Amino acid sequence: MSSTWGERIKLSIFGGSHTEAIGVNLDGLPAGEAVDWEAVLAQMARRAPGQDPTATRRKEADQPRVLCGLLDGVTTGAPLCAIIENTNQRSKDYENLRVLPRPGHADYTAYVKYGNRHDVRGGGHFSGRLTAPLVFAGALARQMLARRGILVASHVASIGEVRDAPFDPVNVSPQLMERLSGEYFPVIDPAKREEMRAVVEAARMDQDSVGGTVECMVTGLPVGAGNPMFGGAENLIASLAFGIPAMKGIEFGAGFAAAQLRGSQNNDPFYYDQEGKVRTRANRSGGILGGITNGMPLVFRTAFKPTPSISREQDTVDLTTGRNAKLVIHGRHDPCIVPRAAAAVEAAACVAVLELLAESGLL
Ligand SMILES: Cc1cc2nc3c(=O)[nH]c(=O)nc-3n(C[C@H](O)[C@H](O)[C@H](O)COP(=O)(O)O)c2cc1C
Repeated sequence: MSSTWGERIKLSIFGGSHTEAIGVNLDGLPAGEAVDWEAVLAQMARRAPGQDPTATRRKEADQPRVLCGLLDGVTTGAPLCAIIENTNQRSKDYENLRVLPRPGHADYTAYVKYGNRHDVRGGGHFSGRLTAPLVFAGALARQMLARRGILVASHVASIGEVRDAPFDPVNVSPQLMERLSGEYFPVIDPAKREEMRAVVEAARMDQDSVGGTVECMVTGLPVGAGNPMFGGAENLIASLAFGIPAMKGIEFGAGFAAAQLRGSQNNDPFYYDQEGKVRTRANRSGGILGGITNGMPLVFRTAFKPTPSISREQDTVDLTTGRNAKLVIHGRHDPCIVPRAAAAVEAAACVAVLELLAESGLL
């Protein structure tokens, strides 16, 4: 397994849903960065389960404990390691999944790849719970970025067919960024939240689940972070964001819609603003040209599939008998993971941007 990411800021995530603890080791953080612990806990709470009718009822305090790397609340520059204890496990809900793999989950691929030695409890190392240490890492990175004038926020852009208003890709206020990055279920148009909740509840009543998209924005980036080809801003963000379970797609700027435009419609015209800075009138490039940030807001959208574990009966196979079988899943599962995933997407963006700045010599 590779659960380690990064060249300059090395992030390593360990543990499983029902192991004693999960955690993260961060190597390469700048020294001398003060950590606002309240702000870290606020980010952890956004991802934690049991906060909303749309989420699983598994309750976890998600209280990180820093083992090393912080002294008097300030980063020392040495590896920073933190753990989060797992306190609310019901492992026997998962026993049958070792031989009856859940459609849409990683039970079957893990069974084959790890010769049935993998930890199946609560999804093991494949669990969405592993986004808790990512959110912790992101919360630290977010504070380091904010100190440099860089803000990161996201909103639930859609659930099922219900869509939130999109970000204005050229002009988003710091107040909106601040509000969204503090909300559990961030939406630009608050009226959409109830409509989205109704879609999730309808899926739950049908013993089903539903997916959606998260749109993320990074403002205040300098021009020049990132590289062509394999070290681009898109590459870095995508590779980290794909570590979030259930994320199946990512697009930057106009993304797939750009394929239907002409160059004259898709190009972002340049102009000098009142301060003599080069800006673009539109932002269909999503703030990235040639893998390098162009100083406009960086915008991307991620697509999340519906939660695989649904409570209605499904077809599967019995890996011990070699026969087709029926599966009924027990345990506590979110009918929609998208609101909780928003905090994880922002965390991935925060860590990836920190790495991008570090390796471009801009940190
Ligand atoms: C925050 C979060 C919570 C999740 N909760 C569940 C869950 O309750 N039940 C479930 O089956 N999958 C859940 N998932 C998704 C699975 O972990 C994921 O679909 C699975 O590991 C297979 O990986 P893949 O979908 O990326 O292929 C969750 C994902 C995230 C990000």
